[in-house]
Amino acid sequence: MRLNFDEAVDLLLNDQVVAIPTETVYGLAGKLSSEKAVQEIFKLKNRSAHNPLIIHVSSLEMIKPFADSYPGGFEQLVKAFWPGPLTLIFPIIESLVPEAARANLPHAAFRFPNHQITQALIEKTGPLVAPSANLSGTPSPTLPRHVERDFGEDFPVFDGGQCKRGLESTILIFLDGRWKIGRLGVLTPEVFIPHLGYLPESVLTLKDRPPCPGQLYRHYAPKTRLYLQSEFNEATFIVGFSDRSYSVDSLSFGNSDDPERVAQNFYNTLRELDERGIEEAWIDIDFPRLGLWTTIRERLEKAAGFY
Ligand code: TXA
Ligand code: MG
Repeated sequence: MRLNFDEAVDLLLNDQVVAIPTETVYGLAGKLSSEKAVQEIFKLKNRSAHNPLIIHVSSLEMIKPFADSYPGGFEQLVKAFWPGPLTLIFPIIESLVPEAARANLPHAAFRFPNHQITQALIEKTGPLVAPSANLSGTPSPTLPRHVERDFGEDFPVFDGGQCKRGLESTILIFLDGRWKIGRLGVLTPEVFIPHLGYLPESVLTLKDRPPCPGQLYRHYAPKTRLYLQSEFNEATFIVGFSDRSYSVDSLSFGNSDDPERVAQNFYNTLRELDERGIEEAWIDIDFPRLGLWTTIRERLEKAAGFY
């Protein structure tokens, strides 16, 4: 069910869960202050209670009450990247963020999405928790119909068309006196150097107890079995690039010179494999190991079940 602005505000203010657009992916939103909505989000997604939720705000003012002070570099990051696809995790006054939303951790995640109509929505509702609006494990949603595919045609969706960036926000977490990469995303680690004075190190490698618990779970995966390759002798179906030709049926992420467009199409392409009922697909991974491609490669490796 597609909602207009007033209907979306109304449902959210009445403790309901609504899918909302952001510049990265659609979020499954509920009011932070609504225990009912927070519980419903975990239930709908079939999400582990150990996997906390990002709090979405529409101004810097909105996060001020949550902490007595902010980590070094916070202001520079906010000035440079908010609103935008950057999530910041830092210690908060615990009594102000419901335990369920932060999975009992002593810190919370905040994001100020760069999406005008969603900002206007949050102005009306107050802070919203919102994980990606997909069933846990499936490819993230970048179009309203992806949300409807996972949660049914009647599920309330505030339609904002296709998400511009197409991959999730980059997560920085403040640990041991430094900002570290908790999840790769649309902002690449190098972009933070001028603002922090250092390259944030990755904490993705702490496999058994990652600081962002979501890294533990299977992610982004279609039902199709994926083989990440750059040779296709045995391939029966290929997902590759529009500027390359393949000898069997194929789908394209976009042009191999245009990683931004590939990112935007990424999840829709993975979902199309399932829509077409394709059992096995060979993914062309002959692309650079830098910039946004690094995030795209990481998403593919997770989707293929490497880790
Ligand atoms: O682009 C995005 O970030 C999208 C849109 C909707 O904003 N949201 C999103 O949420 O990707 P989700 O729930 O799919 O992923 C959030 C990640 C998870 O890995 C979770 O464990 C981590 O953020 N996270 C959230 N709150 C945290 C906290 N307090 N401490 C550590 N990790 C946290
Ligand atoms: Mg997600």
